Amino acid sequence: MRVFYKIADLERFLEEGKLEGKTIGFVPTMGALHEGHISLVSKSKSLTDLTVVSIFVNPTQFNNQEDFEKYPIKTESDLKFLEENSCDAVFIPAKEEIYAPDYISPEINIGILEDVLEGKFRPGHFKGVIQVVYRLFQIVKPNKAFFGLKDYQQLAVIKKMTDEFKLPIEIVPCTTIREKDGLAMSSRNLRLNQVERLEALFIYETLILAKNLAVKYSPSETKKIIEDLYEESSLKLEYFEFIDGSSFEKLSNSWEENAVACVVAYVGEVRLIDNMQI
Ligand code: PAJ
Repeated sequence: MRVFYKIADLERFLEEGKLEGKTIGFVPTMGALHEGHISLVSKSKSLTDLTVVSIFVNPTQFNNQEDFEKYPIKTESDLKFLEENSCDAVFIPAKEEIYAPDYISPEINIGILEDVLEGKFRPGHFKGVIQVVYRLFQIVKPNKAFFGLKDYQQLAVIKKMTDEFKLPIEIVPCTTIREKDGLAMSSRNLRLNQVERLEALFIYETLILAKNLAVKYSPSETKKIIEDLYEESSLKLEYFEFIDGSSFEKLSNSWEENAVACVVAYVGEVRLIDNMQI
């Protein structure tokens, strides 16, 4: 496995691969890697010839300074984990490499995605995500890029960006990997203490419950039942919404084929996100 810190070195390596006719798969991450990230690496390895993982905690997508400062950094164990999983190349750029002073960030209108769920509760977040992923795409120029369905709205934003700029990159969605008890794997889970780790399971349980309640109740009735349960719990609910998984319109009176439940809740100080197809 090759590790690169400089854009020019990575580009040279990738150029050689392309000359040999190899296709490039790309998995952007912010590190503190877990099996969820590795599932993206495996998918990339199965569909392309050369898999590149980037590790970069992107400051521009954090709308909360404390969340940024407390974001776990585990570069040494990440590299070991990637090596064990036969990743081909890792890119660990410094902030200055990614955001050179002359870099002009692309501006696009992501429509409703900016106004609902993560767009609404994390102002500027997707602007930062677009900024960094566009930049990384420019550097890596992959044939395929892999994103987790766990960040359902982020995946939609990336697809929208790729379409808007007509980038010749296939965006491949990857299923959410969960712990044995159902909690969605997340780098932020590392910040939970033992008690919080148990409490966090509530998020998964409410998603399963929503799926069952949906047989009998409308989206707004189901939402109300779930919100009441959060009121009685130790978690602080930020939102629990049912949306049409393509249009991102909120569902209230009736269910649609592509309904998705999206939830964000705080366990202690840790903000966790999850979703489930209904
Ligand atoms: P990060 O949270 O590190 O996630 C990197 C990728 O792994 C994302 O595509 C995310 O959806 C996916 N992922 C995370 N947890 C997962 C799980 N349990 N199962 C499957 N996939 C999972 O998302 C980001 O970083 C950043 O916003 C980034 C795209 C790198 C831009 O900075």
